[in-house]
Amino acid sequence: MEKLIVKGKTTLSGRVKISGSKNSAVALLPAAVMTSETACLENLPDITDVRTMIGILENLGMSIRRRGRDTLELTPGNLSKIAPCYELVKKMRASYYFMGSLLGRFGQAEVPIPGGCDLGPRPIDQHLKGFTALGAEINIEHGMIKLSAAKLTGARIYFDVVSIGATINLMLAASAAEGRTVLENVAKEPEIVDVANFLNAMGASIRGAGTDVIRIDGVKRFKGATHAVIPDRIEAGTYMMAAAATRGRVVVEDVIPKHLEAITAKIRETGAAVEVEPETITVDGTGPLKASDLKTFPYPGFPTDLQPPGMVLLTAAPGLSVITENVFDGRYNHVEELKRMGARIKVEGRTALVEGGVLLTGAPVTASDLRSGAALIIAALTADGESHVSAVEHIDRGYDHLEEKLTALGANIYRTADEDYSRQAGGAD
Ligand code: EPU
Repeated sequence: MEKLIVKGKTTLSGRVKISGSKNSAVALLPAAVMTSETACLENLPDITDVRTMIGILENLGMSIRRRGRDTLELTPGNLSKIAPCYELVKKMRASYYFMGSLLGRFGQAEVPIPGGCDLGPRPIDQHLKGFTALGAEINIEHGMIKLSAAKLTGARIYFDVVSIGATINLMLAASAAEGRTVLENVAKEPEIVDVANFLNAMGASIRGAGTDVIRIDGVKRFKGATHAVIPDRIEAGTYMMAAAATRGRVVVEDVIPKHLEAITAKIRETGAAVEVEPETITVDGTGPLKASDLKTFPYPGFPTDLQPPGMVLLTAAPGLSVITENVFDGRYNHVEELKRMGARIKVEGRTALVEGGVLLTGAPVTASDLRSGAALIIAALTADGESHVSAVEHIDRGYDHLEEKLTALGANIYRTADEDYSRQAGGAD
């Protein structure tokens, strides 16, 4: 186990390049099994979740060739396994995309019931309802979900909940079904559009991605394609929040500003200046900050993944801010850790009251999931003194070269072995 040691009271300044989107990449990689030809994915982020996904694909029999730092050539060839490796799959929730892609390609899939970051209950009933509507038979045995279909047939599916995972999974399976599928009340996140673009480049016929209704005409054959992953709007938003919270000035490069509108608006509401250019966003937090309320919603609303970093920004902004988490029940794991650093936050159900304008003090803290880890790093950058952020493996799942990028912005951050945490973790076994 490792931890990050962060010396506080840093004002971030400079330029940071944003990597490819994690949540796109972890769906695009399983989508590559839909073809038997070579697919090429460019701009993949160098993060653990992508490395785990590559391991799963190799174990399934995919041949993978690296081209340069961020490009992979994936050739499924005559890959025929329908059960991804349990040990790897249980490490990441997004491996549930193999349900849709393997079901589409082979009419069968066996995938463990997903775990993932602890954000409260995360059912997959909408995925299963969709597969059933396409004609798949589903059996859940010994922690495995077994799906099979002699034939997938297009259907009209109305999702009860707006779900990124269910929308992508059904786009995958329905692309290979016979006839037309209409998906209603779907997620509209840019990652959905990215996956639809990749599938369409492979020969699928998906229209309406990015709106509430997606129409898919199933096709029999998928071909090879080359696709560049969109920039990671959550990584970009994290650096934007960090710039404002540390009262710095940071140019965030290689972004699609349209994907960041809710974040840009929220940062402006807190008093920081945000300048938007075609591929860069500059956040200037050197002026006074002020309290602002924040509510998370599916895209184009403010993303739940940036609620923890947003909470740190509001901790730095004088006044009382109210946060309402509308997407996940239990996404306040970071609060107790922030309180250990001196934050004044009270959680009541889905609402958190943040008394801002407090100078945090460095402390030993533990990341409980990816985005709470990002929040703790930003808090540590603003705090007086040194913080030790444990369980950094959560952060490594989704932030490409975090220390290098922050160091280039003037942060004092380094990685070291976490003997205390390893001892505790070892003891728990
Ligand atoms: N939901 C259901 N039933 C379902 C599916 C979802 O009730 O069948 C509920 C969930 O419990 C949740 C809401 O619907 O309350 C939205 O969940 P969604 O399915 O959209 O989430 P997800 O696909 O499992 C993705 C991201 C998460 C991000 C959420 C919300 C990936 C791989 N993961 O998860 O990303 O928080 O959407 O935007 O795309 C992260 O990057 O740190 C992360 C956790």
